Amino acid sequence: MTEEKVELRRGLRDVYIDRTTSSFIDGKIGKLLYRGYNIDDLSEKSTFEETIYLLLYDKLPTQAELDEFDGELKANRHLPEEVLQVIELTKTAHPMDVLRTAVSVLATFEPEVNDNSQEATLRKGVKLTAQAPTIVATHARIREGKDPIAPDDTLGHAANFLYMLFGEKPLPEDARLIDKDFILHAEHGINASSFGARVAASTQADLHCAVTTGVAVLKGPSHGGAAEEVMKMALDIGEEARAEQYVKDLLAGGGRVMGFGHRVYRAVDPRSIHLKDDARELGERKGQPKWFSILASVTKAMEPYSRRGICQNVDFFSGAIYYLLDIPDDLFISIFAMGRIPGWTVQVMEQFKNNILLRPRLQYVGPMDVEYVPIDQR
Ligand SMILES: CC(C)(COP(=O)(O)OP(=O)(O)OC[C@H]1O[C@@H](n2cnc3c(N)ncnc32)[C@H](O)[C@@H]1OP(=O)(O)O)[C@@H](O)C(=O)NCCC(=O)NCCS
Repeated sequence: MTEEKVELRRGLRDVYIDRTTSSFIDGKIGKLLYRGYNIDDLSEKSTFEETIYLLLYDKLPTQAELDEFDGELKANRHLPEEVLQVIELTKTAHPMDVLRTAVSVLATFEPEVNDNSQEATLRKGVKLTAQAPTIVATHARIREGKDPIAPDDTLGHAANFLYMLFGEKPLPEDARLIDKDFILHAEHGINASSFGARVAASTQADLHCAVTTGVAVLKGPSHGGAAEEVMKMALDIGEEARAEQYVKDLLAGGGRVMGFGHRVYRAVDPRSIHLKDDARELGERKGQPKWFSILASVTKAMEPYSRRGICQNVDFFSGAIYYLLDIPDDLFISIFAMGRIPGWTVQVMEQFKNNILLRPRLQYVGPMDVEYVPIDQR
């Protein structure tokens, strides 16, 4: 067979599929902007609530607008009783499977589910953003045989999540770490899960379908699953002195150092710089500086790779932060997902605004015109 001549771009590497105004990534220098604002400023000076207002409404809010938005988030934190039952039924599953299932079930209770207008999609995105922490925290408690904790309206988004998870109001500095982590995960262009969400939206499926897809795609270790793997690696290494040899052996065996490498960044992922400082400070505050030291030694051992553009990404230090906050390791990806729901929503809104079916092609390289042989003659 003569092969059809096509331009193959495996993995859609460096293929631009549309225009966006939600986020800008300069992978060469390691720069990330949301709606034109640098994440260095947003992560240090803003809150998750304010940052996602910026993403969803394309402007920074006034105090009155932020208060109203905050009220809307708080009003939507509760889950229908049936969703709580589904969480109970699926409690032994991985938290990402439970989150994906619960988002899917929430679609069946959503009166506006089929309304793909910009306004309804935004309202549903805010609702899902508010509901996700309740799903994750409720599941985490139910599977340990503990009673779920109702959301506390006096607490902000991040603090309330920690409260619902542990049953105690968190220290403001701990809540701030999760708040910042949510900010840094909120949006990142057409990454794999956002692409998945856009593919769903491009068929005119609704936001719940798109977010369900986003959660499903995020689960993989090449995407959101890396933070969990990084912390497993740090625990496996056990002590700083073993880090260099561990990395050498891993790479020699053809393995990958999780939390390193990125499809777009050839420089250090700017999000990881903020998380690095947080991981170090938290480790010192908790009297456990060892995990940061191990990760710092891994970074040192990866220097030859960093020079080739394989640098630390957002997942490298986030796992250590969650670990030091006593968050179970299989919840790490769910925390990423909680932060990313506004980003998926924004991507879906953009897709709906100027929709085109996302439908690439595959080049067929198999046999042609094979004769069908009846089953009794094979
Ligand atoms: C994120 C990732 C999937 C991007 O993959 P990609 O853009 O398709 O890049 P490739 O898989 O083609 O890798 C390019 C080269 O870098 C190497 N590389 C990439 N990431 C690496 C890592 N973490 N450790 C060691 N080598 C790595 C690959 O082996 C490959 O080398 P080669 O050209 O000699 O074959 C990849 O870097 C990875 O698997 N990282 C670890 C998982 C992770 O941290 N994911 C979170 C991303 S935010």
